[in-house]
Amino acid sequence: MTKPIAHRACPCVASVAIALTFASMAGAQTAATHEQMHRLHNDPKAYMAALDDPARDAWQKPDDVIAALAIPDGAAIADIGAGSGYFTFRFIPHVGARGRVYAIDVEVAMISAISQKMMSVRPGALAPLLARPDDPYLPAGGIDLVFICDTWHHIPDRVAYAQKLKQGLAAGGRVAIVDFHARDLPVGPPASMKMAREDVVKEFEAAGFTLAKEHTFLPHQYFLEFVPRR
Ligand SMILES: C[S@@+](CC[C@H](N)C(=O)[O-])C[C@H]1O[C@@H](n2cnc3c(N)ncnc32)[C@H](O)[C@@H]1O
Repeated sequence: MTKPIAHRACPCVASVAIALTFASMAGAQTAATHEQMHRLHNDPKAYMAALDDPARDAWQKPDDVIAALAIPDGAAIADIGAGSGYFTFRFIPHVGARGRVYAIDVEVAMISAISQKMMSVRPGALAPLLARPDDPYLPAGGIDLVFICDTWHHIPDRVAYAQKLKQGLAAGGRVAIVDFHARDLPVGPPASMKMAREDVVKEFEAAGFTLAKEHTFLPHQYFLEFVPRR
């Protein structure tokens, strides 16, 4: 395997964290400005703490997201852009005794922090993986669910990337995308840095996927499930 290279989080990665931090400090949610977005850029520890801010749960609804995914026992999940492991560690109890969650990120600090928590989960349940921005290094045909939250807009050459995701899917596998609506919101990056739901759908269609399911219960994000087109 080619040696993965680390890559700095782009400003809109930090923006989510900043918005969350502001939310908890001020007791109210605010979307990040461009200036705020740079503040946590070089502070992975604060960034991860903010991603894990309990105030996020109210709108991120992680338990509802996981319930909607109806994860089968023994599933292999790839959490791409895993960050602090906000979803990664919530997925683990749902994959059963034979399942596994791949925590994939391009930031050494994120993968290192997730790896440090390996002792807290069943041996074999968690596989942290430092990836390249253009390749998640999925095991070929090995993944039942690719999950990508607030990360799709960071990926370069996304149609080619989606084609790589397809190669990583097992029979019956799917890709779930959660990301901020491209409009003014009380949380997340400025609208100019968000991707419209329709553009995500177009990219996956261009890569040979079909939109199979859409969940609409999240207040600020779209939640789409794609399957390879037959
Ligand atoms: C906004 S955070 C979201 C973290 C996590 N998914 C969550 O919902 O809490 C985006 C994450 O994507 C990672 N990232 C950015 N570009 C990436 C890429 N090309 N491939 C994989 N991860 C990437 C960043 O390092 C960061 O940890």
